[in-house]
Amino acid sequence: MIVSVNEAVERLKAGDVVAFPTETVYGLGADAKNPEAVRKTFQVKGRPADNPLIVHISNMEQAGILSNALPDHFFTLAKTFWPGPLTMVVQKSAVVPDVVSGGLSTVGLRMPDHPLALELISRVGPLTAPSANRSGKPSPTHPRHIEEDYGNELPLVDGGAANIGLESTVIDLTGSVPVILRPGAVSVGMISEQTGIRVQPFSESRKPDAPKSPGVKYTHYKPDASVNWFDRLPASPDSSVLYLFHSRTGYPPEKNICHFHGNFEQMARELFDLFRLADHLRYNQILIEPLPDDQKHPMISPLRNRIEKAIGV
Ligand code: TXA
Ligand code: MG
Repeated sequence: MIVSVNEAVERLKAGDVVAFPTETVYGLGADAKNPEAVRKTFQVKGRPADNPLIVHISNMEQAGILSNALPDHFFTLAKTFWPGPLTMVVQKSAVVPDVVSGGLSTVGLRMPDHPLALELISRVGPLTAPSANRSGKPSPTHPRHIEEDYGNELPLVDGGAANIGLESTVIDLTGSVPVILRPGAVSVGMISEQTGIRVQPFSESRKPDAPKSPGVKYTHYKPDASVNWFDRLPASPDSSVLYLFHSRTGYPPEKNICHFHGNFEQMARELFDLFRLADHLRYNQILIEPLPDDQKHPMISPLRNRIEKAIGV
């Protein structure tokens, strides 16, 4: 149910959850200082309580209240990439309710680059927001995805299609070397070029032992259709398969054949919508052209990560 910004503010202040747009994906917002409201987020989304939520802020003063131990890198990265698709994990202060952090002593902070999100936060205060999909579905990049997942009941602020389409980069600043816990539109290369800060790149291999980012142990982003990288294609396409090509190779464009012509931003923006489309149109399979090296483009690492999660590797 689409609501105005004014109504969203009233509902959030009253302890309701409201979906709202950010530049990455839609979030399911709640007043971060109201434990009851935050608890509702987990219920509505069907999310395990030990998977912590990101707190979204609209100014640096809020960061200083939510954490008493902001490291130097935090300020450098905030100055360079905020507002924007970067979530920084820092030690949390006592102001952050335990339900927000899933029992951890840390909290993820992000200042989103979206006027409606920033307006809501400046009028209500910091907002917790996981991606607004139901657990196990791709993150919503369009208001209609939220209506698909929840029907018309959930209040929603309409900001149209999300600009980036994949969730923010999550970086852990609590150790001696910053570590990427989830790749997003702010890449390791951008961080080192623009700030000189050296970070440990994202590594799937950290996953099995001790997941630093609790979210990585849960299945995400899974369409009903099976997803695979392809190596060799048959001479003609199969009409029950959705094909995604990023280079100039492949079959001529068709309803089930998408070409991105090297535009990885566009591929990122459309990926989750295509996953959902594949299910609506009952494709059996999604076959994706293997991606080039991560260094070729900042969106390749996050694309690979979301596609591999959908493949289930
Ligand atoms: O782009 C985004 O980040 C979106 C928009 C709405 O801001 N939000 C989002 O939230 O993707 P969510 O909850 O779907 O994913 C947050 C990820 C999860 O994998 C979670 O485990 C991790 O960040 N995370 C959150 N707080 C953390 C913490 N204190 N320590 C480690 N990982 C944390
Ligand atoms: Mg999510």
